[in-house]
Amino acid sequence: MHFQWYPGHMTKAKRQMQEDMKLIDLVIELVDARIPFSSRNPDIDELAKQKARLILMNKADLANEDQTAAWTTYFKKQGCYVVKLDARTRTGMKNINDVVMEACKEKIERDRRRGIKNRPVRAMVVGIPNVGKSTFINTYAGKACTKTGNRPGVTKGKQWIRLNKNVELLDTPGILWPKFEDQRVGLLLALIGSIKDEILNIDELSLELISILKEKYAGVLLERYQVSEEQTPAEILGEIAKKRNCVKKGNELDYSKAAALVIEEFRSGRLGKITLEFPAE
Ligand code: G4P
Repeated sequence: MHFQWYPGHMTKAKRQMQEDMKLIDLVIELVDARIPFSSRNPDIDELAKQKARLILMNKADLANEDQTAAWTTYFKKQGCYVVKLDARTRTGMKNINDVVMEACKEKIERDRRRGIKNRPVRAMVVGIPNVGKSTFINTYAGKACTKTGNRPGVTKGKQWIRLNKNVELLDTPGILWPKFEDQRVGLLLALIGSIKDEILNIDELSLELISILKEKYAGVLLERYQVSEEQTPAEILGEIAKKRNCVKKGNELDYSKAAALVIEEFRSGRLGKITLEFPAE
């Protein structure tokens, strides 16, 4: 799903989020493990202050494991609980409930002191488009869930998914808007396929990807395309075009076709598990 954001949308999304925050104890924020910085909106720190925080590094199946570990440390230092995840499968899901309870232990303790027993923790899922929010809610809630609230005759309210006796989840995720105004953020979002391809210069995107691969993942381009990495990204793209027979009429090299091919192979994971940004940066 692709989104076009306008200032009006952002104001509305923010207002909605502020309202929803009043109802919950824990914010479950999904980020894309390949671009954990660019797939976030730092405004969430302000919106969710005073709430328990859990960051899910989703699509970890496509990201570099060492980098996922480094980002995990980075987010933990900021006071968030962190779990890496592939939301399409149950990998990483089984300990989420434990982490949710751990993240909310202060609230549970506060309740206990006030004599409130067994009040479920209420949580909400947030994230920018395409990070896997719906997939996560479906997998996490599974079939066992029962919806509460909004029953006929009952005061109109929010829909909650009762996950188990301890946790309730708001059934619609909060959508955060990406920080497009930062050009590099836009570029990385485009590389993972979260921004419409038509509005982008595919050649430029592929050159950025090649440059990251060349610098941080030595050997990947050589292995996949049998190209020398001791060249400029543009030369490498040209060589990939030759190797993969990307030619136009008149035998001219078709750079755009080669660019699209490299990007597609990255997105589908065929270039391996690749993270595009690093906490140290
Ligand atoms: P959203 O609600 O945050 O917008 O995201 P959504 O769940 O719709 O997921 C977006 C895409 O990401 C889906 O691909 C989904 O299958 C995929 N996805 C979600 N979690 C994971 C994960 O952990 N690993 C991988 N590899 N993919 C994941 P799609 O249905 O093919 O849609 P499209 O975006 O390709 O059109």
